[in-house]
Amino acid sequence: MGRGYLTKEMKILVTGGAGFIGSSFVRCFMEKRQNPVVTLDSLTYAGNMANLEAVLGLPRHTFVKGDICDPSAVDFAMKGVGAVVHFAAETHVDRSIDDSGIFLRTNVVGTGVLLDAARRHNVKKFVHVSTDEVYGAVLEGYSTEGGHLHPNSPYSASKAASDLLALSYHATYGLPVVVTRCSNNFGPYQFPEKLIPLFISNALEDKPLPVYGDGLYVRDWIYVDDHSRAVDRVLWDGRAGEVYNIGGTKDKANLEITDFILNKLGKPASLKKHVQDRPGHDRRYAMDSSKIEKELGWRAECNFEEALAQTIEWYRSNQGWWRTIKSGEYRNYYEKFFAGRLAGSSAGSVN
Ligand code: NAD
Ligand code: TYD
Repeated sequence: MGRGYLTKEMKILVTGGAGFIGSSFVRCFMEKRQNPVVTLDSLTYAGNMANLEAVLGLPRHTFVKGDICDPSAVDFAMKGVGAVVHFAAETHVDRSIDDSGIFLRTNVVGTGVLLDAARRHNVKKFVHVSTDEVYGAVLEGYSTEGGHLHPNSPYSASKAASDLLALSYHATYGLPVVVTRCSNNFGPYQFPEKLIPLFISNALEDKPLPVYGDGLYVRDWIYVDDHSRAVDRVLWDGRAGEVYNIGGTKDKANLEITDFILNKLGKPASLKKHVQDRPGHDRRYAMDSSKIEKELGWRAECNFEEALAQTIEWYRSNQGWWRTIKSGEYRNYYEKFFAGRLAGSSAGSVN
């Protein structure tokens, strides 16, 4: 039995389980644990049933198509559930700059609907999955859980708001909420609008790799299954009312990632194209994960270079997965967005 009184018979609700990290969590969790799992996902552009292929036939797994902002769908999915792991969100910074409304709705209102339902259903643990982006740019040193929140994009501001809302439900109602804040993930099944899958798939298509600004922005990269293992540790043993940072082991500049991908695929450096910067672009994220390491015994296990090489190989051998996405509805959106970046001046501030 873990802190928060979870048992191995308890049904676990995973929101956003058809997305990139949620589907990794469902796969990893179901491989390791015996608990029944309900996945609740509204299948936005980022949700994909193909991501859940490995678990769809399992009798212990149920998929519910529903919106976390819809109280009756949430009530239905939460029946008989002992714990919630909440991944569902709008997640792409560039989209939040174009239109913040859906980010406020899903990330803030949707989280509120889930928290209210979790109270009604008396759940024993509520893990709210968040991001290092809530700390804002960290020019030196590392973010710790007690650090100030200084989000700079509508995406990270909506995540910070939902983190605080979740923690307030612990303080006010005693709901056993735990918040995790993880750094940039990479791995299979990541929607090809994020840096790594976009650059790998563009390189495979001999298309330009759009590097924002000078490309010297730094992120702390973590392999997605390492993140999923950390969330599993927090689900069982994380202390209610606490925040846990989850970091990778590698701070890397975007240009280093770009060169690694081009080299691995044997593609020319001429595919690199510096384009208009992202407004409000955070210069660096860096995480101090010592709390989860000391308290819960978790640490990132994957070697960055090996995991990135395996990820590149996954996108090379699973081209059907991303080509279907890139040739569908997403294509028009992205072509328009990319043309805007190419045409843009060097405007855009750095934090
Ligand atoms: P993703 O965009 O790949 O997937 C999001 C999933 O949520 C999709 O399946 C989508 O259909 C679903 N969803 C969106 N709105 C919904 C709604 N209203 N109702 C039900 N389902 C809905 O995202 P991801 O990269 O897997 O991120 C998952 C979580 O992890 C997010 O909360 C994100 O903030 C957090 N996070 C992501 C990263 C990263 O590097 N990607 C890092 C740290 C934290
Ligand atoms: P992204 O994958 O969007 O994650 P986040 O903004 O949440 O960190 O971007 C990672 C970094 O890569 C970030 O510094 C922005 C940069 N980037 C590019 O240079 N070009 C691109 O086309 C994208 C999508 C991102």
